[in-house]
Amino acid sequence: MRSFAGRDILSLKDFERNEFFRVFEIAEELEPIARNRQNTDLLKEKTLVTAFYQPSTRTRLAHEAAMIRLGGQVTGFSDAKMTRAGDFYQESIKDTVKMLEFYGDVIVMRHFQQGAPAEAAKWASVPIINGGDGWGEHPTQILTDLYTVLREKGRIDGLKWLAVGDMRMRTMHSLGYGLTQFDCPITFVSPEGQRLSEEMKGEFKDYGLNFNEVEHVEQAIADADVILVEPVVQPDYTKSRDEREGDVGLTPANYKITKDLLVNKAKSDAILLHSLPRMDEIPPNVDITRWSRYWQEAFNGVVMRMALLALVLGATE
Ligand code: CP
Repeated sequence: MRSFAGRDILSLKDFERNEFFRVFEIAEELEPIARNRQNTDLLKEKTLVTAFYQPSTRTRLAHEAAMIRLGGQVTGFSDAKMTRAGDFYQESIKDTVKMLEFYGDVIVMRHFQQGAPAEAAKWASVPIINGGDGWGEHPTQILTDLYTVLREKGRIDGLKWLAVGDMRMRTMHSLGYGLTQFDCPITFVSPEGQRLSEEMKGEFKDYGLNFNEVEHVEQAIADADVILVEPVVQPDYTKSRDEREGDVGLTPANYKITKDLLVNKAKSDAILLHSLPRMDEIPPNVDITRWSRYWQEAFNGVVMRMALLALVLGATE
């Protein structure tokens, strides 16, 4: 297996099956630190730089919390407008990371341009972690989701997935790539205009993903062991910031997971994931049902980032 030390985490297309399990193993080892709300000194000599060109609650703060749990330091920006990349100069990714690499030992970047973290990785001498790039990928989120499935169901292979939402979404791309390494058939449900591109479907086929597409969640929910939902009422992920203007509309029933649907149609032991934030596609009364696992997913988001930081910084092999 390739070493994780010094490695960029840009895409799940890069991940081999045994590498997933290695990350999950380290996450399981480190999990008690987060569960017991302790901090350790594993990364006490290291600093994380956060370079966020797009808003985030979970991805940035989970990486920061993970670094703090492991005794490291954190610096960075959460709004590029306060940097030279976001003012008159429009400083390039290259020039920016050529600075950031001296401010810390690993950089987590979120950007509205697909491929920006890969561009940063070309120039940085420290590992770059992709925290979401445009409509590209969101590898650390899907690592979190796969780890959540492993913890909640005791296995990944052999489970049937249902993914509902906007298939342009970066999480959906990382999910498809990730599942190519497991025995997991998946059904995608998305509106016209938000379907998987032909190019993406071609790639999934090339990598051996067992997938199909249907029109309505009711056509697939009864078979699903894992239901992963994203909004279809979405901002434009290619913008640095997309403010809500006026009424944005409601989610059609085809793409909504309600309590009634779960009670009447879902498997009794299925689990429901959502990377969040949500609109109305999962109403709040689903939160207290036995299917929901998104708060567990949020906790695992910190644990997963602890594992990734420890691995890419060479604190564990
Ligand atoms: N799940 C996720 O990426 O959330 P944020 O946009 O808040 O980081």
